[in-house]
Amino acid sequence: ANIQWYPGHMNKAKNQLEDKLDLIDVIIEVLDARLPMSSKNPMISKLIANKAHIIILNKADLADAIKTKAWVKFFQKQGILVLPMDAQHSNNMSGLIKLIKIATKDKVDKIIAKGAKEPVIKVAIAGIPNCGKSTIINRLVGRNATIVGDKPGVTRGQNWLKTDTNIQILDTPGILWPKFDDRNIGLKLAACGAIKDSVFHADDVSIFVLKYLREQYLNLLVDFCKTSAEKIEKINDIDLLLAMTQLFGMRDDYERFSIFFLQRLRKGKIGRITFDLP
Ligand code: G4P
Repeated sequence: ANIQWYPGHMNKAKNQLEDKLDLIDVIIEVLDARLPMSSKNPMISKLIANKAHIIILNKADLADAIKTKAWVKFFQKQGILVLPMDAQHSNNMSGLIKLIKIATKDKVDKIIAKGAKEPVIKVAIAGIPNCGKSTIINRLVGRNATIVGDKPGVTRGQNWLKTDTNIQILDTPGILWPKFDDRNIGLKLAACGAIKDSVFHADDVSIFVLKYLREQYLNLLVDFCKTSAEKIEKINDIDLLLAMTQLFGMRDDYERFSIFFLQRLRKGKIGRITFDLP
């Protein structure tokens, strides 16, 4: 695929985040739990080198729970605070608030030791499109969506949202672009709905997914097709797509079936699947 928008947008996103970095205490990087590597923006680590940093593995309800545990360990080993989350179905943000407090403890302790009152902690949320940034901001802010303008002198047009605690959230999430010079990364992002459907043909994405399911989640494919593992193992990926198209009553319209198949996949109806292995 020819992704012409990539470098320009990437630089713009980078500059926007860089501009605000001085005002932020904690960066929350939202990753898709199904793709903790492919949904990670490679520039962010450099950009936030000296900031408190938390990773959320969001959409954990759609990901393979065992793999999510392994990814949590993977990031923890690097000394990164990390939390799996299902922001769509759970509004319990206490785990995240706890991590924000841990991430800022030194700074807050120092200020309080000087006799000052508990400072406001400023948090920004960043991640690739559709990973759940806005959902998380809404969960953190709740109904309490008061906007706090910045003090004169430091104002650069951004607003802060109040929470029930001393934490304030930057109202606009930082949008990061995924890096996919590798076709497989692009296909994984497409499978999970993280990039526009126009970037790849649905049948190419479906074949990629079928291949992967055969290797890693054969049982889910068996359940979805209501057939046996032997039957699936006997035929190649393209024939499998065609057989499934017929099975679901779509004759030879494998494009239509592919779109249907990807919709089911993204809703979690095929099962909990993780596409990046730690
Ligand atoms: P963004 O700001 O990062 O772009 O993402 P946003 O919060 O808008 O979320 C994108 C979609 O993902 C939304 O679905 C949202 O409900 C869903 N979502 C967010 N967090 C979770 C999660 O933890 N689990 C699941 N299963 N879904 C989550 P939507 O509005 O229906 O959009 P779409 O499904 O049509 O993409």
